[in-house]
Amino acid sequence: MDQKIKNTKQKIRQDLVLIKNIQDLDTLSTKYLGRKGEVNKLFQSLSPKEKATYGQKLNQLKNEIEKEVKKTKSLLLNVKPDKKIDITIPGIKPKEGHLHLLTQAIEEVEDIFRSLGFIRRRYPEVESDWYYAEGLNIPKDHPARDDQETFYVNKSVVLTAHTSNGQLREMERVKIPPIKMINIGKTYRRQASNTHSSMFHQFEGLMIDKDINITNLIGVSNYFVRSYFGPDREIRLRPHHFQFTEPSFEVDINCSLCKGTGKKNGKTCLVCKAGWLELGGAGMVHPKVLKNGGIDPNKYSGFAFGWGIERIVMMKHNITNNLRDLYLSDLRFLKQF
Ligand code: DAH
Repeated sequence: MDQKIKNTKQKIRQDLVLIKNIQDLDTLSTKYLGRKGEVNKLFQSLSPKEKATYGQKLNQLKNEIEKEVKKTKSLLLNVKPDKKIDITIPGIKPKEGHLHLLTQAIEEVEDIFRSLGFIRRRYPEVESDWYYAEGLNIPKDHPARDDQETFYVNKSVVLTAHTSNGQLREMERVKIPPIKMINIGKTYRRQASNTHSSMFHQFEGLMIDKDINITNLIGVSNYFVRSYFGPDREIRLRPHHFQFTEPSFEVDINCSLCKGTGKKNGKTCLVCKAGWLELGGAGMVHPKVLKNGGIDPNKYSGFAFGWGIERIVMMKHNITNNLRDLYLSDLRFLKQF
């Protein structure tokens, strides 16, 4: 009997495909469900013993066929099945996404600097050695190259390890200062750890005009950290060395947790240890670099800085676990922001 039921199901499936109109469907319905139809024939062939097990199965078969007939009928008549549409019922709200955390930060950085008149630029990630290093006063065999081991495409083409390559390009584009650029882009280094990845983002500021000095650098930096992190933040400069700036600095930002004191509840602050966190490098553009960009260092001066997008995002949102969380596209992580 099981086989017979299976055969009937198969037969009706084949028949359904051939249905073209309501008449066909009526004929099919009679063939299977009519008084002398296939299903009834099966019912009648059951011995009293079989009735107990197969009666139910045949009823099920009958129901299934009825459902199919009904479905096909509604398709043929092009009417919606049973339920009427109630247009007053509130719709189902589609799931809404949002911009990725890094994209949000990039847009925010761009907005903050735009409000000071800086223009957003993007310069090549695959860059010639000149713009990436040599033109920035980093000669071929200089040890400063070791700070930023990067990926070489060939001897004179690299995946840029910083956004500073945009400095000379912007000088060449604008030619005559004032220059106010914020270059945000991807950078590459031969590194991998919980806080460093081989690809990351930097934003490079460059301001060149007459009489630009360190106070301008401090003013712009403070404006940025207060806008991005909050009004109670400030920066400090620590002397450092970069080939393309003179003097050069590391820019630190006061820790949000201990407010720059290095102490929290009488103990050493766990976030910063010393009250300050490193933001990135900065300095006054080296006269050689100005010259390489076609700008007269006797007439003009400028400052530059290069800071990490991932770094400020991790600082702002207290992401201490793993930088790679930013790249994994795991919604459980991303939904929090
Ligand atoms: N390019 C440097 C780096 O990635 C950061 C930097 C330092 C950029 C000093 C600057 C600067 O513009 O003036 O490590």
